[in-house]
Amino acid sequence: MQQKYIGKAISRVDGPAKVTGTAKYAAEYNVPDLHYGYVVNSTIANGEIEKINLTKAAMVDGVVKIYTHENRPSTAWLSLNYADMDAPPGKPFVPMHNNKVVYNGQPIAMVVAKSFEVARYAASLITVEYKADKSDTDLVANLQNARDPKKGLASFLKPPPPKPKGNAAKAYEAAPLKAGGSFYHGVEHHNPMEPFATTVVYEDKDKLKIYDKTQGSVNTQMYVANVFGLKFKDVRVLSPFVGGAFGSGLRPQYQLFLSVMAALDMQCNVRLTLNRHQMFTFGHRPATLQNTFYGADADGKLQSIQHESVAETSTYEDYTEIVVNWANMIYPSPNVNLQYKLAPLNMASPMDMRAPGGATGMHPVEITIDELAHQAGMDPVEFRLLNYTDEDETTGKPYSSKELKECFKQAAEKFGWAKRNPQPRSMRRGHKLVGWGMATGIWEAMQVPTRAEAILTADGKLTVRSATADFGTGTYTVMAQIAADAMGMSLDNVTFELGDSDMPFAPISGGSFTAASCGTAVQAACLGLKKKLLKKAQSTNAEYKSVNLDDIAFVDGQLQPTNSAVKPIAYTDLAAASKNKQIASKNMGWPQMMKQRKYTRAAHSAIFAEVEVDEDFGVVKVTRLVSAIAAGKILNPKTARSQILGGMVWGISKALREESVMDHRIGRFMNTNLGEYHTPVNADIHQLDVIFVEEDDQIVNDLGIKGIGEIGLVGVPPAIANAIFHATGKRVRNLPIKLNDLM
Ligand code: MOS
Repeated sequence: MQQKYIGKAISRVDGPAKVTGTAKYAAEYNVPDLHYGYVVNSTIANGEIEKINLTKAAMVDGVVKIYTHENRPSTAWLSLNYADMDAPPGKPFVPMHNNKVVYNGQPIAMVVAKSFEVARYAASLITVEYKADKSDTDLVANLQNARDPKKGLASFLKPPPPKPKGNAAKAYEAAPLKAGGSFYHGVEHHNPMEPFATTVVYEDKDKLKIYDKTQGSVNTQMYVANVFGLKFKDVRVLSPFVGGAFGSGLRPQYQLFLSVMAALDMQCNVRLTLNRHQMFTFGHRPATLQNTFYGADADGKLQSIQHESVAETSTYEDYTEIVVNWANMIYPSPNVNLQYKLAPLNMASPMDMRAPGGATGMHPVEITIDELAHQAGMDPVEFRLLNYTDEDETTGKPYSSKELKECFKQAAEKFGWAKRNPQPRSMRRGHKLVGWGMATGIWEAMQVPTRAEAILTADGKLTVRSATADFGTGTYTVMAQIAADAMGMSLDNVTFELGDSDMPFAPISGGSFTAASCGTAVQAACLGLKKKLLKKAQSTNAEYKSVNLDDIAFVDGQLQPTNSAVKPIAYTDLAAASKNKQIASKNMGWPQMMKQRKYTRAAHSAIFAEVEVDEDFGVVKVTRLVSAIAAGKILNPKTARSQILGGMVWGISKALREESVMDHRIGRFMNTNLGEYHTPVNADIHQLDVIFVEEDDQIVNDLGIKGIGEIGLVGVPPAIANAIFHATGKRVRNLPIKLNDLM
């Protein structure tokens, strides 16, 4: 297959639609007789609702109905524990199930009115009497409740820590070089530009069309059908555009449940949107408390890796992520002990947030390694090269490809690392201390079965579709590139469609697995299409009877047999001669399991950071970041670079800004707006450089795609923390790093 478009810096094909406003989001679909919901959230974290006073709200002109646990329609049921693809073990939260409150901000009432403003106003008149019980929301104060997580269906994507190896505690005691400490990371909330929203179009009795903000239209369809006892084919979910998600759209959220419930009950169209404040009442990156104890021999070779993590979860689900498995995937050690526990708190279940577990778990790993390098009197890069491995020691499998050394080399060169004075506090710029630090990142390269359909019409256009998602990730663009190359067509004649549960099956889009999964499906559908084109050629043209698929080049919109005696045929002629003037093929893109299973597949990165620290004020400025990424084949360096830049900015944010601050007396997050929930602004972002170190990896999949959604973030916060150590001599382990940590 020729690669005319794959690997090229093509601008987003959905860009014009987005910047001109023709791209529509879930709350922007206007339908007749639309009713608007507004949710009232609980103000206690644990206890019972004794009384909800609706009298005043019900009197407001325009209010149609108010739902609480007392009148929630019985049409809604939830018998399946796994009603959605990303549900962790436990019992999913059912809005307004009964009078119990299990987290602060829980939806406890919904006003449905003729206008949004009326619904919101009426909701403000609702008063609630509670019987509040003691609530525990502080992870550090509840470590005694930490226990093993329950296993669930999703455990294959999120395996528990491997069994201990050797005797890590003893090896640590005996090690001449020791490092480690305690790392507390606070809660972060997803803050995509588009908050959660659902518009439910009631089409007929039990037949719905749903515009939902989601990373998986089929997942939403499955959830609605399961929960409300509807037929799959009667639930159509659309989400062609998603205004960012970062994992928050992996699971169906309560606005979906409540809007569908009301639409079915009232037999009308309903829209429910959540505001920014409500976005902070559920779903978040969990707080973790991690401890590391690493030991190395006098030469700097690792002898012991011990990493334990306690993360928070809710009282009703065991949300898990891979936090502690990473160290021994990257660093070899004869003695390893990794432990992962959960402490249930009176909070909403945490949710996957970009590089879930990886961004959290790699921070202690890379800081502890930096500390050991410092103790060994070695350069941090040299120390990593000394402890380098091409094998994942947690499984004993080699990496399918791993160009991490090349990442070190290219990023160090670009950064000018050779000029670094290893001594902390040795570099200054005016009255500011300057620090140079680095870290490594890793993220697994996963792939999941996905289906796609390719349709070629007599007008020479190719449409490929799959129910996958594009939440800013570039799916529309890279899939069109793959299809254009697979069919030997001009990109102008190729359209990729997504975000519709009526389209061929795709799982949720996340974990950085969409490009590999859907890309494989697009290739499979195009291959299916080529076979059908040949078959059509054979049925219409005797010359083609003896021509095999392998003997044809599919280029310039033509079948071009290698045997020049056989005349080329245009796709358009074959489509025109077909039923409905089109030829189509629907195929599954399967992971090549037999090849994959002998290897660990992962993307790697090397990040180099420069910081300036003003010790008078504790202010840190990240003046430079260089990130070298080894993530297999880069389908589109422009959209890929954007992904990585986003990860780097988030890394600065995670290191220095973001934290959801809770008042543990009431178990409620307090900084629930973008003014007080700090993220970097333009003035915080300086020089960012992205380098792609391409890998030719035929094991991951045919196209060599590993995925780049998460890897951009992993490793950035520890690179910054290590640079801060180099600048100041202060080892700050908690995140975010605050002014008073450095004054
Ligand atoms: Mo990503 S946290 O899997 O959307």
